[in-house]
Amino acid sequence: MAERYKNIVILTGAGISAESGLSTFRSENGLWNNHRVEDVASVEGFARNPEYVHEFYNELRPLLFKAEPNSAHLAITKLQENYKAENISIITQNVDTLHEKAKSKNIYHIHGQINQIVCLNCGHIFETWGETHTDDACPNCKVAGMLKPNIVFFGENLLYMNEVDYLLNKCDLFISVGTSGVVYPAAGFVQIAYLNGAKTIEFNMEQTSNNYMFSEHIIGKAGTTLPKFIDELLK
Ligand code: OAD
Repeated sequence: MAERYKNIVILTGAGISAESGLSTFRSENGLWNNHRVEDVASVEGFARNPEYVHEFYNELRPLLFKAEPNSAHLAITKLQENYKAENISIITQNVDTLHEKAKSKNIYHIHGQINQIVCLNCGHIFETWGETHTDDACPNCKVAGMLKPNIVFFGENLLYMNEVDYLLNKCDLFISVGTSGVVYPAAGFVQIAYLNGAKTIEFNMEQTSNNYMFSEHIIGKAGTTLPKFIDELLK
């Protein structure tokens, strides 16, 4: 009989979407698609050349729109639907919407979402899978030139940090799936869970540099290893 957990946090990164055909960030021909991170995902880059940044996300949006969830995303939904816990939450660094397409719940997009735009004038957030450009007007306040993809750029605060902090301090099982663990603060989440006594398990193709904070490493493709692990938990 598998151990019982009450509060489970699943942190996901680009690796969980790799088997859905999406490139990870730090692989060859990664998601940055030969653009400099400083140009397309930083506050300074956006201030310098907003149209270049809009174009980058305009090109990425249709790829993410077309992508379908894989067996790792679906296994998480199966866990949420069938495991008797108080709470099972997903903290994702991914800007794709594959957890939503897999019909998961309790999803926190701490790095934002590709299909959302935020108005820097009034704070209004709206959804679109279409293109946005520098001179577009906000549908709420009507001011032009203030729209930004709702993606957290380097130099900005992560989203949902109060909720995330609460979940990490409460969880008794922390699972990390397909993240290299090099971008903070998300890379430090395992430490919070570990120091609070949670069991910490990493699913990755390789051990990451966070390795001493994980109680267990499950090496392999998440699309294979995660469903197997979740089926064991559900026994
Ligand atoms: P990375 O590209 O840094 O890391 C992806 C990880 O997934 C690597 O450790 C791979 O070994 C692993 N991986 C690849 N394929 C896998 C598979 N099939 N199964 C399991 N693991 C696999 O992506 P992230 O860690 O998500 O921020 O990157 C963190 C952040 O860096 C991103 O959210 C992004 C970027 O700055 C923003 O866009 C704001």
